[in-house]
Formats: sequence, C-alpha cells, structure tokens
Amino acid sequence: MEISNTVKKAIIPVAGMGTRMLPATKAVPKELLPIIDKPIIQYIVEEALLAGINEIIFITRYGKEAIENHFDKNFDLELFLKQSGKKKILKNFPDTLLSNISIISIRQEKPLGLGHAVLQAKKILKKDEPFAVMLPDEFLLNESKNGDLKQMINSFNLSKKGQILVDKVDMNNISSYGVVNLKGDYSKPKNKKIFNIVEKPFAKNAPSNLRVVGRYVLPYSVMINLNKIKKDKTGEFQLTSAIQKSIKEDNDDFIAFISSSKIFDCGTKEGFLSANIEMALKDKSLKKLILNTVKR
Ligand code: G1P
Repeated sequence: MEISNTVKKAIIPVAGMGTRMLPATKAVPKELLPIIDKPIIQYIVEEALLAGINEIIFITRYGKEAIENHFDKNFDLELFLKQSGKKKILKNFPDTLLSNISIISIRQEKPLGLGHAVLQAKKILKKDEPFAVMLPDEFLLNESKNGDLKQMINSFNLSKKGQILVDKVDMNNISSYGVVNLKGDYSKPKNKKIFNIVEKPFAKNAPSNLRVVGRYVLPYSVMINLNKIKKDKTGEFQLTSAIQKSIKEDNDDFIAFISSSKIFDCGTKEGFLSANIEMALKDKSLKKLILNTVKR
C-alpha cells in the first residue's frame, strides 16, 4: 500500500470522564487542569506543533466544551487585558501561540473505548493518510528540542513503519497498559520491530516490561482495522486490537520507539502532583518557594 510521507494530523481523545481526579473534574475537564499555570492540554497541543503537526482533531463529548473555548479567542478578556495594560499576558494565550495549527472537534456519542474514539476521525483523514494519536493524560518532559513525537514522525517518514512510544514499567503496574513483544532482551531496549502487542495483560502473561505510552504514529491501515475489530471483554474497542490486526494480517511493520522523556500520568493524583513539582523546580523562584515550603 502506498503511504503518503507526512504526518500532519494528530488525533487527541478528550472525551474521558476523568474519574480518577474527582471531584476536581466534576465540572472542569481533566485536560484543563493546570501544570503550574497552563492547562495540560495546551502542553500537548504545543508538543504537536513542535513535531510538525498542523491539524488537531479533538474527539470530545457533551460537557467538555471548555476545551474548545480554551483554544478559541476570548474577545472580552482580550479587550479587558489590553485596556488594563496587561497585554503581555496575551502572548501565552493558546490562540496567539498556536495560530499556525487548526483545531477541529468531533463528538464521540458513546464511551466505547480508545479505538472507537480514534475511529471517529476517519472521515477527516485522506485515504492512506498516516496520523498521530496523542493521549493527553500522559505529560512528556523532554530536555532535547526534538521531543519523542517529533523523532517518531521523522522515523516514520524515513521508514514508513508505524511508531509506538514505549517505556519500561514496574511489573506491578503492567496490567494498566498496552505491552509490546519485541522478542528480545529487554534490559537495554532499542527501537525494534514489534511482533505482538497486547492490551492490559496480567503480569504473569505480559510479553515484556515495555508499556505503551500515549504517543503513536500510525499508518492508515490501523484506521481501516478499527472498523473491523470486535469489542473486548470490557465492552470497548481497543486501539491495540487494530494495531495487532495490522501487524498480523496486513504485515505492516511497527517499531517500539523507546521514550527519552520523563513521563507523568496526569490522570492520577500522583502523576499530576509530580508533574507540577517537576515543572516548578525548573523555575528559579518557584523552586525556592517549594524548597522553603517543604522545609517548614
Ligand atoms: C490506553 C491504551 C493503552 C496505553 C495507555 C497509555 O489505555 O489502551 O494501551 O498503554 O492508554 O496511557 P487507557 O489508559 O485509556 O486505559
């Protein structure tokens, strides 16, 4: 199959209920919770922009309109800030920073899983167009100016092989994730071909300690397979099942791309708090404040 060589669209599912962060997420979408003073979702869209993406497709649902509003213009606020001499703040607004990226949203009518969410974007893609998927719970901090996603897109463009970001995980937590089998030595993992990918295995059945992180660069065959897969035993359509089908039935190659980022699962209290502390420690004055606070 002919694959076009540029990944320009990122699908970002934001329809989740945010149950792990209740009551904070009762009225506020979890994606809008801030790391310091910027919502998590803005970091994710900025990461996409840095990776060369120019179109974001939010898969959303009723009640999460505040996410769209965050990326839209707010004329009243803009006018107010200009009139009160606080124009400087506008430079950090998403609509200023992200004017080169277009954002659309599609509603997912039923919560039928990640695979079902991603499938909603099929009508936006051209035939055979590869795409990125970014799961906004996962906040990635990378010291290099080329983050994981950017490098994954570069690799895809060179090799035409799907790229799935992975990271080592403690075996006690493995059953919360997709896990890859590279048929190899996992002590020093390298970017290698994936033979198998399984969703949330019990630790005793897990093919490795490499878990799928929420960044994917995928060929169009996965989108086609999302239409063919069945629900799993939890009643959801899994993205993992469609990738497995592309590996086994279409003979498409996928690479387990080893992450070089610090990863925070901001869908949990622990990850959210760690991300905030880590980012605060990067800022001189906030670092001082944190160190003074913990000393007390
Ligand atoms: C999803 C994927 C899983 C992946 C995880 C990463 O699971 O299905 O394969 O490892 O995201 O965050 P979820 O967290 O939506 O249950």
